[in-house]
Amino acid sequence: PSIDEILNLHDFETIAKLVLTEKAWAYYSSAADDEITNRENHAAYHRLWFRPRILRDVSTVDFSTTILGCPSSMPVYITATALGKLGHPDGELNLTRASAKHGVIQMIPTLASYGFDEIVDAAAPGQNQFLQLYVNKDKAITKRIVQHAEERGIKGLFITVDAPQLGRREKDMRQKFDAEDPDNVTTSGQSGNVDRSQGAARAISSFIDPGLNWNDLKWFQSITKMPIILKGVQCYEDALEAYDQGCQGVVLSNHGGRQLEFSRSGIEVLVEVVTKFKELRGITFPNEKFHLFVDGGVRRATDVLKAVALGATAVGIGRPMIYAFSAYGYDGVDKALQILKDEFEMNMRLLGARTLKEVVPEMVDASNIHQHVVAVP
Ligand code: FNR
Repeated sequence: PSIDEILNLHDFETIAKLVLTEKAWAYYSSAADDEITNRENHAAYHRLWFRPRILRDVSTVDFSTTILGCPSSMPVYITATALGKLGHPDGELNLTRASAKHGVIQMIPTLASYGFDEIVDAAAPGQNQFLQLYVNKDKAITKRIVQHAEERGIKGLFITVDAPQLGRREKDMRQKFDAEDPDNVTTSGQSGNVDRSQGAARAISSFIDPGLNWNDLKWFQSITKMPIILKGVQCYEDALEAYDQGCQGVVLSNHGGRQLEFSRSGIEVLVEVVTKFKELRGITFPNEKFHLFVDGGVRRATDVLKAVALGATAVGIGRPMIYAFSAYGYDGVDKALQILKDEFEMNMRLLGARTLKEVVPEMVDASNIHQHVVAVP
């Protein structure tokens, strides 16, 4: 189907399923166990409804923002997804180039198909990028990667904390991952001796340190001045710990439903975190000291606006972007980002918000989001 027929981000998934190899589709689309968490991620947004305001002059609307000090044309970044070449020969570079055109930030994955430097080299002058880090058991390797990233101008270090072991993604496990495959990953020599019989995810992830713990944060802070954000936080207790230990933010995420099955969606955790920070510390969001990011199941600007209203600085989008380049290469990602911009413009008007500052908590009815109840001793 022609790209002109694409009307929304869901459409890219339909096309990608048609054009991708079975192996690539399995790796990109799969999620943990029965994939309930993955389905729920998008469904969770259905429980939030708007309370728009009327009769404001919305002739012009501005949905630009800054993310960790970097300008962004919208409160959206392209989150890290591994193995870009499975979907398209230009892999992650499609994301780099389209991000440059649209003024959004790309988070480079540790397990990109292209090398880290190739992706940084593909960036336009002044283009901002983040790095997603899987922490290697070998601290010397991790230190080298982090310090090199800082030297290359990376603006934020997102340490993935929800994957001490890769989740069980059965669609992917049914495929045999072939290391000699041209679609294969450049893992900066990190993959080691691995079992290739259980899918792509498990084949490439054996270097990840399951011993990673809170004490390691001080070490990260001692080796880099980049802002440190923990990616994959699931409850307010850990968000508070990250805040207390001097992190610059957290990504409320269940890894696109690919890790612990029955992890709540990021948007649901956002409600909990915002409520508890206010109650326990008197802190409101957004604020410049500590940022809340959300990812998982975001497919429309309305999803993003809900998260922003509730306090998120920005929202990460994963699968739609890799489906977009799988289907149409660079043009697909270009179109996906343009669709989001068009959706922002219209929905800001309909919401009665001229800037993101005017997208306030009162604009969202979150009463259908369950608050977890702690038994009072
Ligand atoms: C991911 N994600 C991910 N996260 C991470 O920290 N490191 C990684 O290497 C990857 N790789 C990866 C591959 C693929 C194919 C997917 C779909 C996801 C998780 C990703 O950053 C993000 O949390 C989710 O993708 C967000 O959900 P949606 O937007 O895909 O629904």
